[in-house]
Amino acid sequence: MKKIQIADNIHMLSMNVEDILFEGMWDIANGVTLNSYIVKGDKTAIIDGVIGWDGIPETLYKNLEEINIDPKDIDYLIVNHMEPDHSGWIENFKKINNDFTILCTDKAANLVKSFFGDDEKIKVVKEGDTLDLGAGKVLSFHPVPNVHWPDTMMTYESDTKTLFSCDMYGSFGKIDESYFDDQMTDEDVEYFEEEGIRYFSNVMATFTPQVKKAIKKTEEFDINLIAPGHGPLYRKNPQKIIDDYSRFSEYSNGAGKNEVTILWGSMYGMTKKAVDFAEKILVNKGIKVNKLEMPLKSESEMMATVFKSGGVIVAAPTYEYKMFPPVAAALEELGRKKVTGKLAFSFGSYGWSGGAQKELNEIIEKNRMKWDFVEPVEFEGSPREEDLKKVEEGICELIERMKDKVVE
Ligand code: FEO
Repeated sequence: MKKIQIADNIHMLSMNVEDILFEGMWDIANGVTLNSYIVKGDKTAIIDGVIGWDGIPETLYKNLEEINIDPKDIDYLIVNHMEPDHSGWIENFKKINNDFTILCTDKAANLVKSFFGDDEKIKVVKEGDTLDLGAGKVLSFHPVPNVHWPDTMMTYESDTKTLFSCDMYGSFGKIDESYFDDQMTDEDVEYFEEEGIRYFSNVMATFTPQVKKAIKKTEEFDINLIAPGHGPLYRKNPQKIIDDYSRFSEYSNGAGKNEVTILWGSMYGMTKKAVDFAEKILVNKGIKVNKLEMPLKSESEMMATVFKSGGVIVAAPTYEYKMFPPVAAALEELGRKKVTGKLAFSFGSYGWSGGAQKELNEIIEKNRMKWDFVEPVEFEGSPREEDLKKVEEGICELIERMKDKVVE
């Protein structure tokens, strides 16, 4: 666990978590940080905490003591969000401190009771409510429902102009040294661009309309520092992560980078021949290509890669009168996360009858994804020259129309 003073009388304790499935399902190849914040006035508040796994709350207490804060002296827990990656430690904390007050939204209060029992001292806060800790430190509370759960809020500290944004403005990716934007190398910036997209697409994409509202709310504050619950802190240029989140919100609704992702699967290599051909055409035209062979790629990577792409090629054969199931499952997941408005092109092989294209249309319709497809190509068995010509024509149209989708 890392201890860093981030502003006058405000510390961050941050730990890397690796080798987990985030939310029990997302394979996060590069880990994630859990950031907890301690604000000291005459009274002491801790804003969000850590996960409750064996030994982790005790590590938090040890680190608090090393910055001269006795965990028994903590007066307030500010629970921005009850998801256990931030709140799991509270059950353990109750064993060493029985005199603290939890401040949270009404929706979080219900979860506090259902997670930890009825005996907590809880003060429900609403938009703009404040808590004066003394010595100049005043916290105010700002609900941002569904960013990421209905209970979520952000907390603002007016003395140092710090916004504790919880899941909002967060990112995956472990951190070893450079916690602040002004410490980052160009490689770090690129790393957090990718990890931010992965986080947003995996965790936030479903809630893009609410994220947009939270961006608007952020603009009401005078901000020196954005301190999220996951990922780096922004003090040199807090506007960067606000702009990034605006851009990621557009990716949710069909915009993307000047890249084409081929989301594909093949049973015996017939569809693969057309995939390899498509890749060559795209490379020749100078377009960055991402290939996602399903089911070999993780859901997390699939989601992030399709999400950020200005164009998508869905390439899958017919399997038992429907679409090759791993590609169908990926599309369903994209639908569940409300990745809408993508410009796309599809092709694939069939043996006796088609069916993949029909199921593709059903998935897009059922999930109200509003993807905009150029004319699809289905071919019997191995693609012949005339089939590949149609694939090439489809790709050329995709590239032409992508110009309206690119936002980088
Ligand atoms: Fe970082 Fe929604 O929890």
